[in-house]
Amino acid sequence: MNVLTFDSDEKLNEACANMITSLVQTNPHAVLGLATGGTPVGIYEQVVRDYQRGFVSFHEVTSFNLDEYVGLPSDHPESYRSYMRKHLFAHIDLQPAQAHIPDGNEADLEAECRRYDQLIEDVGPIDLQLLGLGHNGHIGFNEPAHALLRGTHIVELADKTRQANARFFDRPELVPRHAITMGVGTILQAKMIVLVVRGADKAEIVNRALNGPITTECPASLLQTHPHLVVLLNEQAGKLLK
Ligand code: F6R
Repeated sequence: MNVLTFDSDEKLNEACANMITSLVQTNPHAVLGLATGGTPVGIYEQVVRDYQRGFVSFHEVTSFNLDEYVGLPSDHPESYRSYMRKHLFAHIDLQPAQAHIPDGNEADLEAECRRYDQLIEDVGPIDLQLLGLGHNGHIGFNEPAHALLRGTHIVELADKTRQANARFFDRPELVPRHAITMGVGTILQAKMIVLVVRGADKAEIVNRALNGPITTECPASLLQTHPHLVVLLNEQAGKLLK
């Protein structure tokens, strides 16, 4: 594992965006695994800047998002589909048909999970998987549990996750209760994983994830087993690491 700590968010954003753009420069057909939430916003801004300067094209790239809320209309401003359009897809030349997000509005969600896994199997493996970290150690929406699932599945969001995401909604009770998420098996199959964490409020969970026991009760701890894990932290998030 390679842990890099940055003294500014700008430097972190630049380093992470460089990893993405240089991968796509060397492999224009790269398969990217993408995350949402507060963490990647500045990274996507930098990726868009690189695209606008003509450094990189995403025309042949395929992307798979980690997760989506269940039952939130896809045009709702807080759906992950809207998020991706707003922060990345509307600004680069990634082809819409190659930008995949699980659909949390399918009538048959089990079939949607199988469809998503099949797509990743057909096009993958994912070359670079970008991850944020939940306060409870979740990755994607794989919440702490006695056992974790390999493939895409429906999860009930933990109270802590719903509380954290309430900042994006008008009222806390509007945060959906369920989500569809890529499983940890798929995440761990990515050739390279880039875990990005910011903020003092995540310092403790970063330390648990990277130095604590490998346990499904802290899903991010499974990343310790990955042969090509890069962790990008700001100083606040890294302050408890030895
Ligand atoms: C988002 C995702 C989540 C977030 C995590 C951190 O697609 O899969 O695991 O990465 O909840 O969220 P932020 O970045 O908002 O702190």
